[in-house]
Amino acid sequence: MFVEPDISMRQHSDELRHLINETIDKHGGWIGFDQYMQMALYEPGLGYYAAGSQKFGVEGDFVTAPTIGQLFAYCIANQCEEVLKLEGCDSILEFGAGTGDLAAQILQNLAERNQLPNRYQIVETSADLRARQESCISELGSDMSVRVEWLDTIPPSISGIVIANELIDAMPFKRFEIADGGQCVELGVTLKDQNLGWQRGSSLDLPDFFTECAQGYQSEWCPQAAAWVNTVAERLQRGLILLIDYGFPDFEFYHPDRDQGTLMCHYRHHAHSDPFFWPGLQDITSHVDFSALARAGKNAGLELLGYCTQGDFLISSGILECVQKRIEQSSNDEEEKQIHEQLSLAAEVKKLTLPHEMGELFKVMAMARGIQQIPNGFTRSNKRHRLLND
Ligand SMILES: C[S@@+](CC[C@H](N)C(=O)[O-])C[C@H]1O[C@@H](n2cnc3c(N)ncnc32)[C@H](O)[C@@H]1O
Repeated sequence: MFVEPDISMRQHSDELRHLINETIDKHGGWIGFDQYMQMALYEPGLGYYAAGSQKFGVEGDFVTAPTIGQLFAYCIANQCEEVLKLEGCDSILEFGAGTGDLAAQILQNLAERNQLPNRYQIVETSADLRARQESCISELGSDMSVRVEWLDTIPPSISGIVIANELIDAMPFKRFEIADGGQCVELGVTLKDQNLGWQRGSSLDLPDFFTECAQGYQSEWCPQAAAWVNTVAERLQRGLILLIDYGFPDFEFYHPDRDQGTLMCHYRHHAHSDPFFWPGLQDITSHVDFSALARAGKNAGLELLGYCTQGDFLISSGILECVQKRIEQSSNDEEEKQIHEQLSLAAEVKKLTLPHEMGELFKVMAMARGIQQIPNGFTRSNKRHRLLND
């Protein structure tokens, strides 16, 4: 059962709906789904990510790996450390930092190892989340917090490691359907009796590999994601781009059986497929086509160094060693506290690594410029050959 939004939340959503309705009218009665999603998630002051709802964690709508505990950040910090030791790789650039927990925990881990980056830059489109991140970072010691800066756009030059956890799944995507005769038609948003609904638009020019799908097949395509990889790659002087998200290679993403695509909405821990439910109060997302990201990287001159499941990545990156260390650290605590620590660590490892939790659907991908060595996180398993056909 959905928890009904309270009156102020409903008013908030109505205000956004009004703006969306006006935009649809202004565009002759139809807008692309990507434009709708851009407004529903990012309209300043009103969109889901741009306004003040809780979003992450038990009290919010969904959980992400950094908000579950500290093991995820320990492993990502290991990967950062490896890159920061390379010549000319002195900074960390995180995109879409959410609550700021991952940034704070990475910095704490690196400070313990005397391996702090010169700069930790965060590109965040949401003013609300940026304020939350600032408050989270301000609780760190000044040796860490002075290194953190927020940027409004992708910096002109990048050297070091780029991190994006669950960024690409939050980028506005296009939705399409295969119509009679195999033609690919864009699905957009219209008003039917003042209610938002789906409406076919004009034909959409998609890359070749979609064409085998049968009539009625619906899915998503996210040109914004490939454009983002292209821009980051062009500006990367030397370093590694580490992307963590849920998704597949293209042959799985566009598998004939996945005929309704991967569009998903999250509202108070309920996952459903209606993107028009209380706009502004719920997350809208789709899975990531990692082959499209790999192609964009390759076209921009990057080397694809790694691709594997989150479970394999975390195990290669030392999640179990971290658990061991934490258990040892708590060995002088009273027994009840020790048991509590052990149980919560076990629950965290399970959530992050088990195949039916986040371990298999979530993938980690690494692309680099000026680095040939396979990063440590991909030593246990590396399925990069599954992303590109050549
Ligand atoms: C699903 S949340 C993930 C947050 C965080 N990385 C985590 O794992 O908890 C997506 C984040 O990306 C941000 N975002 C979306 N598009 C962005 C873009 N083009 N550049 C930077 N941040 C973006 C959102 O505001 C939000 O902070």
